[in-house]
Amino acid sequence: MSSARTGRRPQPLRSRLTPLALTAVGLMSGLLSSQALAVDSVTLRVGHALNEDHVVARSYRHMADELEQLSDGSMHLRIFPNGQMGSTQDMLGQMQNGALDLVHASASNLESFDDIYSVFNLPYLFPSQADFKKVVFGPIGEEIMQSTREKGFFAIGAYVAGYRSFYASKPIRTPADLEGMKIRVQSSPTTIRMIKLMGGSPTPIAFSEVYSALQQGVVDGAENNVPSYVQTRHAELARYFSEDQHTSVPDFLTIATSTWNRLSDEQQQILQKAVADSEAYQQKLWDKVNQQAREQAKEMGAQFIEVDKDAFRKAVQPLYEEYRQQSGHAELLERIRDAEQDDDQPQG
Ligand code: GCU
Repeated sequence: MSSARTGRRPQPLRSRLTPLALTAVGLMSGLLSSQALAVDSVTLRVGHALNEDHVVARSYRHMADELEQLSDGSMHLRIFPNGQMGSTQDMLGQMQNGALDLVHASASNLESFDDIYSVFNLPYLFPSQADFKKVVFGPIGEEIMQSTREKGFFAIGAYVAGYRSFYASKPIRTPADLEGMKIRVQSSPTTIRMIKLMGGSPTPIAFSEVYSALQQGVVDGAENNVPSYVQTRHAELARYFSEDQHTSVPDFLTIATSTWNRLSDEQQQILQKAVADSEAYQQKLWDKVNQQAREQAKEMGAQFIEVDKDAFRKAVQPLYEEYRQQSGHAELLERIRDAEQDDDQPQG
């Protein structure tokens, strides 16, 4: 098997297995004793900071069921949701130390572990969601996901996350409205710079702590996609959702390289298939959830504000100039632009 991403749009598992492997699966499911199966049994611990309604959290439960089924009950996913194991940054550290096998992280969380992920935090990078999918689920995404293997982890799955926009207890129509406002951000240097260029004051806070930060006035606003705005109930505290749609930051499922290497070839294939199915499940669910979330937000009293995106786009231009100056970044941006224009790339 060449890479974890070869399994992202895999053939049905059975058609990809060699006859010998098929015999082994047959033996495992039918003839071997439960004692022998127990030897092959594996439980993978995955941590995430999302609440259980989050569309990606639902996709991980889907993955857990798939894993059980595809492995005839020998592979299990033990999910630690809701930031039970700490913030995403803490969990990524725990994964590097072997305490967790898999961790859910947005590209923003990953940026401080590997600079390659900073590209996904650039504002207005993707002209459309179709372009986002071409890049994230195409060869460039694959390359980025694999690139951190030597650092002790890599990404095995990617998930769509719509557009991120500002929300606060007042409308934010232009960058000038951000003046003096403390805005919660994920721990991404690129996002921090972006907020500063727009005129706001960026405040990194873990996802699960944002509700109380808004409530206690530690921050004046935050930024996220609509489903997260609603599921976290931030909409109760920050009624104005101003749709500048500054970023589309993908979510990733990362796995410890040591865990991956401990799995047999067959277990790796089964895991890849379960992850690929969870990606497809999440994409199918996303549009529905996004639409429902808009309705729910309105029921909670939220207002959606249309803004002139050009003013925001203009404010962040220096970020692109700074980004291009760093080694390899200009080339990566060019490749992304080419991929966006290539109609043969996957569109999800
Ligand atoms: C989104 C994203 C999460 C991320 C969160 C955040 O909900 O899907 O992965 O943790 O934003 O702002 O922290």
